[in-house]
Amino acid sequence: MKDINIQEHFAKQASDYEALMTRLVPQYLEQHKIISDLLPSDKSKNYRVLDLGCGNGILSEIVLKKLPNSHITGFDITTEMLDAYEQKISKYTKNYKLIQGDYKIDSIGESYDIILTGMTLHHLNWEERKVFYQKLFNSANQNAVYISNDIIIDEDTHVKEHQYLLWKQFMKEQGEDPEFWYEKHIEKDFPIVLSNHFDWLKEVGFQQSACYWRMYNFAITSTIKV
Ligand SMILES: C[S@@+](CC[C@H](N)C(=O)[O-])C[C@H]1O[C@@H](n2cnc3c(N)ncnc32)[C@H](O)[C@@H]1O
Repeated sequence: MKDINIQEHFAKQASDYEALMTRLVPQYLEQHKIISDLLPSDKSKNYRVLDLGCGNGILSEIVLKKLPNSHITGFDITTEMLDAYEQKISKYTKNYKLIQGDYKIDSIGESYDIILTGMTLHHLNWEERKVFYQKLFNSANQNAVYISNDIIIDEDTHVKEHQYLLWKQFMKEQGEDPEFWYEKHIEKDFPIVLSNHFDWLKEVGFQQSACYWRMYNFAITSTIKV
């Protein structure tokens, strides 16, 4: 999907984003408890946080509820998402920065203690994704944690198809048109298998990578720059 299409696509979703996600992503809200648990626990620290592809700020909100002294950077390509992000995050803190940019080509900043990528890196194709992990690693401080929740695929073709079937069933139960969303996904997304994700993270230097939650074709992973 061209970047201009990405912006148009997400601009339309900005006002109703969270409600839509609960209908498209299984256990969307439950996942947030797990992401919160994976964050560091020292409330007094001023962690530097990057929420990449931040959308309307759902992950930054999780961070600020647990770690209110954090300095958060919300990075996104879509103006409407950044507007929604600011509306949400400014209720918690003044200690935030917005960057409008394309993480494929623009600088994402540096010296982060926590990096989050929620439902966004599947926009990179596999070659771009592999290279991108070096960019993430370079932007992280020592001992930084990088948490991702994203759409994935299984190595096994039969399992992959079965998981897609269960995902479509889930969307249908929520009142969405499963074929519409599935076609969009196939047309524009590049989900990766978890073994590649972990291999590529290891290649650039991340350690202790693990999957902490998985359902059908969705997973939460965490890794550390030791
Ligand atoms: C599905 S939303 C995810 C929002 C949020 N992180 C979450 O977990 O719910 C994907 C976001 O990634 C942003 N995005 C996609 N490609 C991007 C790129 N190349 N650079 C910056 N942001 C991008 C979109 O604008 C959108 O806000």
